[in-house]
Amino acid sequence: MKCLKREWLKNMKTYMLPQKPRNVVARLHMNENPYPPPQRVIEAAKKAVENCNLYPDPERLWKLRELAAKYYKVPGPEWVLPTLGSDTALRLTFECCALTSEIALPFPSFQAYPALAGAAGAKLNYYNLEISDDKFVLNIDEFIKGAKGELAVVDSPNNPTGSLLVDEKGLEKLSKAYPAVLIDEAYAEFAPYELTREVEKFANVLFTRTMSKAFALAGLRIGFLISNPEYIENISKMVLPYDIPSATVEAAIAAMEDPSYSREYIEYVNDEKKKLKEKVEALGWKAFESYTNFVLVKAKEGVVDMLRERGIMVRKVPLGKEWFRVSIGKPEEMKLFYEAIEELADKL
Ligand SMILES: Cc1ncc(COP(=O)(O)O)c(C=O)c1O
Repeated sequence: MKCLKREWLKNMKTYMLPQKPRNVVARLHMNENPYPPPQRVIEAAKKAVENCNLYPDPERLWKLRELAAKYYKVPGPEWVLPTLGSDTALRLTFECCALTSEIALPFPSFQAYPALAGAAGAKLNYYNLEISDDKFVLNIDEFIKGAKGELAVVDSPNNPTGSLLVDEKGLEKLSKAYPAVLIDEAYAEFAPYELTREVEKFANVLFTRTMSKAFALAGLRIGFLISNPEYIENISKMVLPYDIPSATVEAAIAAMEDPSYSREYIEYVNDEKKKLKEKVEALGWKAFESYTNFVLVKAKEGVVDMLRERGIMVRKVPLGKEWFRVSIGKPEEMKLFYEAIEELADKL
């Protein structure tokens, strides 16, 4: 391929989704919100589809930026760039801040980072999280010493552990140590604090947020890059004004106009996580503290494949064969999961 200027793509692995069995009865592997958004959000998207012959209206995108600034409690719309899922916000940051250089990040972390960094030709320098009782922690001072990079990327709450890795003090240290820092707060709605709203205090920090989880819009692909207006203005030059489909923009506006529906789901997730911990620990397995919509479990080797044979999908994680990540699904899906693990635990 003579035209391939990014030579490194040839050796890069493709980001693989887990294999799907034919009869899925519980979809607990994608950290999705199992419930659709309210009808008024769906209607807003449908109405936009009726006018899909027209290009998206830039004024509506600006409206979304205003609402998002209010929701994320940042100074104004010029601090917020809507993107096609937060994946795109991550990709833009990797390409702008770490193109063909190095990225410091914890291990484990979001499994799409290697693909996004690979596309930017960046090398990943991992630093291992430590286990402390029922959570994972990031030793920030050691991370800074051990993982070099033009950009530090930390997902906090972290996927797949569910742990909160950075507080404001930690962020201060990171922002002094690295030229740029990206905090991925995809799950911040499930956590006791959000760092995004501190954006004004950190000139070299970028945040990513998503409407895929708490707002149930994963299929419409909407996320945000949040940072100071200078970064946002420059990074915006890499996207065109019509990149986000009007149905997505309209659904996101309707969702942000009344974001209260996410609260009920968050409460349900938090209650169910407690139940899950009890059920898992009654079997002698371990469930980790989680500030997300999933829980990390250390069980026994073979559990993931045995669950899959029953159509119950949970996700393998790169910590070893006994470990898996299970999303909080609908009560009926959780019931199937609990029944299955109780039965399997007897056999293993
Ligand atoms: C930590 C983290 N960041 C980002 C994303 C991407 O979310 P989306 O592209 O749907 O906004 C995910 C998805 O699961 C995630 O777990």
